[in-house]
Amino acid sequence: MSVDTLSRAACRHQLRQARRALSPEQQKQAAIGLARHLPDHTLVQHAQSVALYIANDGELDPHLLAEVLHTRGKRLALPVLHPFHSQHLLFLEYLPGQPMRTNRYGIPEPDLDKTRVVPMAELDLILLPLVGFDNAGNRMGMGGGFYDRTLGCLDMGARPQLIGLAHECQRVDQLPVAPWDVPMDAIATAEGLIDLAG
Ligand SMILES: Nc1ncnc2c1ncn2[C@@H]1O[C@H](COP(=O)(O)OP(=O)(O)O)[C@@H](O)[C@H]1O
Ligand SMILES: [Mg+2]
Repeated sequence: MSVDTLSRAACRHQLRQARRALSPEQQKQAAIGLARHLPDHTLVQHAQSVALYIANDGELDPHLLAEVLHTRGKRLALPVLHPFHSQHLLFLEYLPGQPMRTNRYGIPEPDLDKTRVVPMAELDLILLPLVGFDNAGNRMGMGGGFYDRTLGCLDMGARPQLIGLAHECQRVDQLPVAPWDVPMDAIATAEGLIDLAG
């Protein structure tokens, strides 16, 4: 492994430990805070179709946010492991509370029903989980590169807005960035949206 690969792995390990160390009460308060402020943000108000995720491994939990957005008439989607395109994601329409199955990473996902596929071109906004972020909007994921691959195929002008959801403990001064990493347009925490440099 190169020094950079090692430093990315060490950084990822440390940040995953920090978010897993948050208590259930801290997680609950963070989920409430996010659901309170994010629906009123312009980027979210302007979006009709919004992808989010089922929280795992200490990630900031968007399930309360999903309920608010559903009540406000947004069309919601969740990522599933792409059945044909290795290490890519596919988005499926989601109704909060619908039955789910567990994928090979132990993460709940909707049943693969092709009538519920939401093409990327119809997504206005994607709320992404992350392991770490910096003030330039760089994102570190779990190390699979799934979002990078899925979003990297898109033409920049046509791609949905990207907001990374994070706990404050996931912020670092400067992340080691690779050429394939897709940066976020904004980062949202329980307290609000972070002003990105540049
Ligand atoms: N657009 C892409 N095309 C090809 N390989 C990619 C792409 N994006 C990521 N990868 C591969 O996926 C691996 C994990 O990416 P990385 O950015 O480290 O993970 P994550 O974004 O989950 O933190 C990398 O080693 C890289 O080889
Ligand atoms: Mg990446």
